[in-house]
Parts: sequence; structure tokens; C-alpha cells
Amino acid sequence: MTSDIQYPDNFIERLHAVWGEGFLSPGGPEEVHEIVRDLDLVGKTLLDIGFGTAGPAITLARELGAGLVVGIDVEEPLHRHAIAMVDAAGLSDRVDLRLVKPGPLPFEDASFDVVFSKDSIIHIPDKDALFAEIRRVLKPGGIFAASDWLSGEGPDAEAALKHMGGHLHFEMATAPQMEKKLRDAGFENVKSVDRNAWYAIVVEEELRTLERVYEDLVAKVGKEIVDPWLQVRRGAAKAVQGGGLRPTHLRSTKP
Ligand SMILES: C[S@@+](CC[C@H](N)C(=O)[O-])C[C@H]1O[C@@H](n2cnc3c(N)ncnc32)[C@H](O)[C@@H]1O
Repeated sequence: MTSDIQYPDNFIERLHAVWGEGFLSPGGPEEVHEIVRDLDLVGKTLLDIGFGTAGPAITLARELGAGLVVGIDVEEPLHRHAIAMVDAAGLSDRVDLRLVKPGPLPFEDASFDVVFSKDSIIHIPDKDALFAEIRRVLKPGGIFAASDWLSGEGPDAEAALKHMGGHLHFEMATAPQMEKKLRDAGFENVKSVDRNAWYAIVVEEELRTLERVYEDLVAKVGKEIVDPWLQVRRGAAKAVQGGGLRPTHLRSTKP
């Protein structure tokens, strides 16, 4: 697994510098609240797909009252960081993080009230298989609530997406494609909320943050890593602002 690591320690350090400790995606705890807006999570059992460094799982347990958050992720450095974060938050009795292999979800049918995921499904190529698995592990009436990096449609969006660079492996879909896949997997009340306008503003602030912490980051991980990555961040900003990269919330119900 080591050779496939996409989130080594120095990348975790860089992402925390721009998105905050515990977050490998934008918006922090407020965006987690937004993804599960209007859901009552108190005492519920949740699955978090792609826990990263546990900021979202901690928010779900500490701020939103989830009874148990079971998280899965596929990379050892993340698991190590995330466990330390959960221990430091004093939540190890309510946040259970497991290192798994990509593929079928290692849980019994109807195990969860809610399946949550923040900006991780982009890394999972077979979304049809994933959605079938999510439906399987949800209880009847259970909710899938996620955000994901989706792509826009049309020539302008495709041109904007060309600005995206970096080392990450990903497989993006459009919102209509994701909605269809969810319906085909047997979900009801399928909805998506486009967050592109929100993120087009936030991404500017992120670039300013990176300029502020530049020297500190260089001291921690090295100029040869930080400088090319700044170009990647600037490319991502162009992709968002040109409508190619579209953070999107997804919501659906298992009948
Ligand atoms: C952009 S990060 C988001 C992490 C976290 N949800 C957050 O918002 O801070 C994407 C995460 O998806 C994880 N991931 C990639 N493939 C996965 C898979 N097949 N199953 C579960 N997690 C996966 C990565 O290791 C990484 O932690």
C-alpha cells in the first residue's frame, strides 16, 4: 500500500495549512454542518467514507451529536493522524476509524442510519458499485449525505478543468451523472446542491492564506515541494472560477 500513498505526511501538512487542522477539503466544520443541514444526527450511527484526518468525523460526533461515527479510509499515514486527532478530542469511544482496502464496504447490511462522505468519492472510480454498497449498508429510510468534487458540463467547463494539475488520482462525474447513478442504485429523493459559487470566493481566501503561511510551510516541508504545489492550487482556483470544478452536495434516501 505504501507505494500508492497519495496523502503522505508532507501533503497532510500542506492541506492543513490551507484548510485547517483535521481537514483535507474546504469549509471546515461549517461545511460539515451544511452537508447534513436539517438532519437530526443525535444518537445516530454514521459511516464516514474517506475520513482523511478526522476533522469531519469529529465535527459529526462533537458538534452534531452523532452517537457513533465509523470511518473508513485507505491510507496508513491518514489513519495514524486521524486516530491521534480523535484521541486528542477525547472521542475515541464515539469515533471508530478503520483502515480498509478499496472495494466492497466491510459492514453488514443495514448497519447505518446515515452514510456521510466529504470530498472523497472523487477518488473512487466505480461509483455504481459504491452507491450499491452504500444502499446495502444503510438501514431502510437511511440517508446518504455527502459532498464531492464534481465537474461542470460543456466546453467552457471542460476548458477550465484543464487547469487542474497535481499528483492525485481522481475520476470526476457531473451532477446529473451522479444523480442518475444514485437513482439507478435504488435511492429516492435524490438531490444535488452546487457549491461552485461559494467555493469560487473561498478559493481566493485560500490563496491569500497560502501566501501568508508560505515561509512557515517552506520551513516544514521544503521549497521544492511548496512551490510546484502553489501552482497546482492556483490551477484549481482557475478550474473552480471557470466552472470546471464544482464542489457539490449530494443527498438521497434509501427507501
Ligand atoms: C480529499 S480527502 C477528504 C478527506 C476528508 N473527508 C476531509 O474532508 O477532510 C479524500 C479522502 O478519500 C480517501 N479515499 C480514497 N480512496 C478511498 C476509498 N476507496 N475508500 C475510502 N476512502 C478513500 C483518501 O485517502 C482521502 O482521505
